[in-house]
Amino acid sequence: MKLAILSRNTKLYSTRRLVEAARQRGHTVRVLDPLRCYMRISSTGFSMHYKGKPVVGYDAVIPRFAATVTRYGNAVLRQFELMGTYAPNPSAGFARARDKLLCQQLMAAEGLGLPVTVFGDNPDDTDDLLAMLGPPPHVIKLNEGTQGAGVMLTEKPSASRGVVEALRGLYASFVVQEFIAEAQGADLRCFVVGDRVIGAMQRQAPAGDFRSNLHRGGTASPVETTPEERAVAVRAAQVIGLGIAGVDLIRSERGPLVLEVNASPGLEGIEAATCDDIAGGIIEHLAAHVRAKPSNKRSRRLASNGT
Ligand SMILES: Nc1ncnc2c1ncn2[C@@H]1O[C@H](COP(=O)(O)OP(=O)(O)O)[C@@H](O)[C@H]1O
Ligand SMILES: [Mg+2]
Repeated sequence: MKLAILSRNTKLYSTRRLVEAARQRGHTVRVLDPLRCYMRISSTGFSMHYKGKPVVGYDAVIPRFAATVTRYGNAVLRQFELMGTYAPNPSAGFARARDKLLCQQLMAAEGLGLPVTVFGDNPDDTDDLLAMLGPPPHVIKLNEGTQGAGVMLTEKPSASRGVVEALRGLYASFVVQEFIAEAQGADLRCFVVGDRVIGAMQRQAPAGDFRSNLHRGGTASPVETTPEERAVAVRAAQVIGLGIAGVDLIRSERGPLVLEVNASPGLEGIEAATCDDIAGGIIEHLAAHVRAKPSNKRSRRLASNGT
């Protein structure tokens, strides 16, 4: 198998581990900076160059680029798909995963468990919006926040209103959610590859915080997930359209609730916590798919015509 990893930094742990796991298994792998891939688009063929040389013959591609380059990176990923390369995380799914609100709507429509979430625009509607959610505590989240920064807990109605008004004043996009107190500052990261959870860890918030993100001082440990939790994690990844995903669940009195679906989940935390070879699991999944379904012939022809 010839594999492309779209990443801006070859030194990142996750990128290095994927390269290492692919080479160990005898595959050819190259890390391509998506911003150095450029494309020719015509009705007779698609082609792409990288630093002056054609990009051809890739069997599989894994996007590992940050949110800041989502738009360009996704165009590159789409070009790979059009050239017949297998993308377990295709551009459509990758784009969806980067829109938290859209993910919530899609998962809710499928009946997946979620914390109840409200979202609105006009300050005149704030009181009714919060009434639609129910009494505090509330969790208020910036839509573009990651790693726990931009996630706040408000315990009184006046605090919820105050934070909502302040965020509106800053033109920030945010949602307000019910607080799942019984989770006690813990969540589960389920690493989904294909239709299986190949590793899972529990993250626990440090004392005095409710956010379990490792970047906020949370600690990780291996965890035994239930069949229901695994099924919810796999279903959540499928609804968003991802073959590789980090699905964060929270244990609640009404069953597992999905907090978020990450399309480019880090490997360092989960490999350290579980001692599982997650990178190897990803590579083996890709290789099995490529063996079973060689690239789309028509797209291949178009790709070679256009070079
Ligand atoms: N509704 C909630 N109830 C209880 N805890 C929550 C809730 N939402 C988030 N958390 C906690 O806050 C952390 C960060 O929230 P998350 O939505 O994952 O934002 P981020 O994208 O910044 O990681 C979660 O890992 C979880 O521990
Ligand atoms: Mg999170």
